[in-house]
Amino acid sequence: MIELKNISKKVVKADVNAPILSNIDLCITKGEFLSIMGPSASGKSTLMNILGILDVPSSGEYIFEGTNIISLNSRRLADFRNRKIGFIFQSFMLIPRLSVEENVEVPLLYSKWSQAERRKRIEMVLEQVGMTHKAKDLIVNLSGGQKQKIAIARAIINEPELLLADEPTGNLDSESKGEILQIFQSLNGRGKTIVLVTHDQEVGQIGKRILTLKDGVWAKTDPSSSKVGAML
Ligand SMILES: Nc1ncnc2c1ncn2[C@@H]1O[C@H](COP(=O)(O)OP(=O)(O)OP(=O)(O)O)[C@@H](O)[C@H]1O
Ligand SMILES: [Mg+2]
Repeated sequence: MIELKNISKKVVKADVNAPILSNIDLCITKGEFLSIMGPSASGKSTLMNILGILDVPSSGEYIFEGTNIISLNSRRLADFRNRKIGFIFQSFMLIPRLSVEENVEVPLLYSKWSQAERRKRIEMVLEQVGMTHKAKDLIVNLSGGQKQKIAIARAIINEPELLLADEPTGNLDSESKGEILQIFQSLNGRGKTIVLVTHDQEVGQIGKRILTLKDGVWAKTDPSSSKVGAML
């Protein structure tokens, strides 16, 4: 489904080209649940932003279902991103003074769905994350775990092919963390491709394959771990 070939990302720091990612290769197959782990500043979010087409690599190739992403113009990139990719962030990125249903509807504002179809979709995704009873509540009045469920509902409302979650449980207590991970597992069980970034060992274990970044390159895999795949 997705192929990254020889991806590098450099930024200019104090007049020198500092590498953040170096020669990263990655294949993600449809329906996969991949965890990307690694210490702080190892490049996890940078890689996630490239996968999510929020950032462009300095060099390398990115193929998404046969489309060469780097060749698309910015309007087509935005359209591709809206249709194909859902994001979930540690800090939720919801609009605090809007209601739950208004937040969930945001990705539909640019779509051609009728009002009735929108309502149906909002109801469906809120049900999937168990938050139907909070539809009219304002985001500011929700707990962290509840906010993240709403962020997941918003991320899946356009039925994206790929779900990217960057440290989605970083701000949550252990009970909410468990609930959020269960939602991811159930989405993956229904065929959604998920890439989860975390430095939490326990959270990372949810992935069916685990890769580790260290200083912007893949860390050597540990052959004793059955989950660590070599399918780079
Ligand atoms: N736009 C940028 N300009 C300069 N440096 C950057 C930029 N983006 C990222 N970096 C640097 O690249 C490195 C990797 O950052 P990144 O955010 O990808 O790490 P991370 O693995 O997600 O860390 P964390 O676990 O703390 O979120 C860091 O040293 C960071 O300071
Ligand atoms: Mg990060």
